[in-house]
Amino acid sequence: MFSLKDKIFVITGATRGLGKEFVDCLSKVTDINSIIVLDLPQNIIDLNINNNIYYFPMDLRDVCSIQKAFKNIKNSFGQIDVLINNAGVNKLISALSVTEDIWDSIIDVNLKGTFFACKEAFPCLVQSNDGCIINIASQYSIVGGKYRCPYAASKAGIVSITKTLALEWAGHGIRVNAISPTISVKSSNENLLELPTVKEELLKNIPLGRFCTSKDIIGAIIYLASSEAAMVTGHNLLIDGGWTV
Ligand SMILES: NC(=O)c1ccc[n+]([C@@H]2O[C@H](COP(=O)([O-])OP(=O)(O)OC[C@H]3O[C@@H](n4cnc5c(N)ncnc54)[C@H](O)[C@@H]3O)[C@@H](O)[C@H]2O)c1
Repeated sequence: MFSLKDKIFVITGATRGLGKEFVDCLSKVTDINSIIVLDLPQNIIDLNINNNIYYFPMDLRDVCSIQKAFKNIKNSFGQIDVLINNAGVNKLISALSVTEDIWDSIIDVNLKGTFFACKEAFPCLVQSNDGCIINIASQYSIVGGKYRCPYAASKAGIVSITKTLALEWAGHGIRVNAISPTISVKSSNENLLELPTVKEELLKNIPLGRFCTSKDIIGAIIYLASSEAAMVTGHNLLIDGGWTV
């Protein structure tokens, strides 16, 4: 059950935060063939290179950079079995303070970057005969979140891309799903979440009473990537401790 044997994974934005923890976990608990991490060039220097983990530079804001990264993967590996679009950025800011630059900086990485990563991965996913995309969205893909206008819009857009590609690519044997976690304490948000009032206020929204961790999400990744999820596509799986209920 839930075998990922010999699969080739590609994951974006996995040199820190949730993505890095997904890679650590996948490399330990499964007999995956290779894990290819795509991240900003400045983040992939001085990394401990592991046997089956490969790092390629890619900037999701730049479509040429995305094309180059997936061309390199095609030349070196031939196919991709699982693409995890994990990279994402956020900035907490009131709607009235959002400038065009701030809007673009979030939408370009989260929405445009995710779409073009899917598009450029397509030829390699087709080669798999069992290709699968997992887009990391957020609970804010389906509920509003104060001070998160561009972020929430980008994550709702990711769910929309997920559903549309699920329809368009089902005939190519590619399943496309999203995972929407609640808040997880990571270097990107820990300063904010350490403030007792903020933490308390946010936790009030989570009936299960805690933030989520990569361990809460990895099981969903393994399930969606495995053949046990062969009939699951276009789904947005919430891992939110009940926030959106
Ligand atoms: N941490 C949370 O509370 C939380 C909750 C729900 C969803 N998410 C989502 O999970 C994902 C990971 O979140 P995290 O908290 O680990 O974030 P993080 O900031 O710790 O890591 C983000 C990763 O994306 C990479 N990245 C940023 N811009 C990039 C670009 N232009 N090109 C390529 N890579 C780029 C970074 O280098 C980094 O490795 C994101 O999509 C985020 O929206 C996070």
